[in-house]
Amino acid sequence: MGVLDGKRALVMGVANKRSIAWGIATALRREGADLAFNYAIERLRPNVEELVATLPGHERMPVMPCDVTRREEVDALFAELQRRWGALDVLVHCIAFAPIEELKGEFRGISLKGLLSAVEISAYSLVALTRAALPLFERAGGGSVISLTFNAAERVVPSYNVMAMAKAVLEAETRYLAADLGPQNIRVNTISAGPLKTLAASAVRGISAARELWEAKAPLRRNVTQEEIGNVAVFLASDWSRAVTGATIFADNGMNIMGATE
Ligand SMILES: NC(=O)c1ccc[n+]([C@@H]2O[C@H](COP(=O)([O-])OP(=O)(O)OC[C@H]3O[C@@H](n4cnc5c(N)ncnc54)[C@H](O)[C@@H]3O)[C@@H](O)[C@H]2O)c1
Repeated sequence: MGVLDGKRALVMGVANKRSIAWGIATALRREGADLAFNYAIERLRPNVEELVATLPGHERMPVMPCDVTRREEVDALFAELQRRWGALDVLVHCIAFAPIEELKGEFRGISLKGLLSAVEISAYSLVALTRAALPLFERAGGGSVISLTFNAAERVVPSYNVMAMAKAVLEAETRYLAADLGPQNIRVNTISAGPLKTLAASAVRGISAARELWEAKAPLRRNVTQEEIGNVAVFLASDWSRAVTGATIFADNGMNIMGATE
């Protein structure tokens, strides 16, 4: 018996075994959820399929193409879920992208094109995917939308630049979507995770230094793990969090409470 028995969850954003989405997928599966996955580009398909094949019950788990900038792929993904499940309980959004040249240097140097691209893929997609999931959530009697953020939205983190702007949009969207969709029993929350060495994070200059800072200065004096983020997602996907919506939940070993760290 798991706390997510009978729940159907779409996990978006697995690229490889280090992906936060993969940590969340394994935690949701451990608790009994049925899962579906996407891959952003054809090159990632074998990775995702190989990982999914390691999960118990993988024969029932669809792995579908979906680049969030392609409307037809978003529509096709939800049409396939409609055909297979007819309803959806949980949507996990672990998607972020910014042009690499935008993730270094002085903030004043950001370009409009880079900013728009980061916001489109990393933030607007939360609204577009939630909207596409609505008919399926309605058939489930409600839903839980979970995304990932980083506290560079509220505090200044060198090099995060356009991605920090995208995370500020994502966190505001979390509140607006929660207010908009609450009457349909759809909850929307975002997890603000500490730094993890993933593909996306390796694009940001200074990820290793950030992890050293966490070990030295975070109240719990360590870095977070994929599994720990997965467990927070289990809580948000489950009925245990039925009173929680519109929240940015920190899973960062307490770093967000710190002022000057010297
Ligand atoms: N790693 C960290 O330190 C950290 C900390 C806090 C929050 N986050 C957030 O966690 C989430 C997951 O990132 P991650 O660190 O696991 O890295 P990751 O590289 O494993 O995941 C990012 C995913 O975004 C997908 N993606 C990019 N462009 C896309 C598009 N156009 N359409 C569909 N998918 C697309 C990639 O394919 C990849 O699967 C992101 O929102 C990231 O900002 C990461």
